[in-house]
Amino acid sequence: MALYALGDLHLSFQADKPMDAFGRVWKHHERKIEKYVNRTVSPRDTLVLTGDHSWGRKLPECREDLAFIEGLPGNKILLRGNHDMFWDVKKTSRLNEEFKGRLFFLQNNFAVYKDYALVGTKGYTFEGPFYLDRLGRIVGWDEEKEEQAKKLVLREMERLRESFRLAEEAGYRKFVMFLHYPPTNILEKTSPFTEIAEEYHAAAVVYSHCHGESRFGDSIRGTYRGIPYMLVSGDYLNFRPALVLP
Ligand SMILES: [Fe+2]
Ligand SMILES: [Fe+2]
Repeated sequence: MALYALGDLHLSFQADKPMDAFGRVWKHHERKIEKYVNRTVSPRDTLVLTGDHSWGRKLPECREDLAFIEGLPGNKILLRGNHDMFWDVKKTSRLNEEFKGRLFFLQNNFAVYKDYALVGTKGYTFEGPFYLDRLGRIVGWDEEKEEQAKKLVLREMERLRESFRLAEEAGYRKFVMFLHYPPTNILEKTSPFTEIAEEYHAAAVVYSHCHGESRFGDSIRGTYRGIPYMLVSGDYLNFRPALVLP
């Protein structure tokens, strides 16, 4: 029994969105997902998919993508990504009813792996635009967008706190925290997300969203203030699920 994570599958079985345009790593990436997940994850394992599942805009346009995910081995838990337009937060319980026993949608609730509560939300972080000098150093940024980002961070923190609260109320004392967005941006050393991870002594913080060599180092990777941070973007891992807990 093990806990795995993989993010940003960006499937497009129905939507017209060929991913090859984003580089070689994305060529037939769905075949790699199928191969590596089947090779690694057993039916008794848990696999958390950390958002950006499908390019479909509405649920009927995501059916094949979700069916593909359903066909992967293990207990599948899905987090919301910024591209998951099919998933309205307010309709999470409706999704959980419809996909009961097949997929679990993690939002304002929690999932369980052994004696760990799996908590999470999409998260948010200010991604610029940043203004650079000739040497590529950051000399400023769009402050209006930064203000807006702060509001989104607050809203996501409320959702994350609710997930922790429900898990704690149910008696859980051990947590693994999942985000779609990185916990910090390139300007930050800490954030409300790292603070809550420390507050609850999360066993790990798992996130994705960062694509391409130049973005993989945007946030924390490795152990920071006692907590392991893992980037699990599909292209970062070449679509091999990462082991979070044995
Ligand atoms: Fe993505
Ligand atoms: Fe994303």
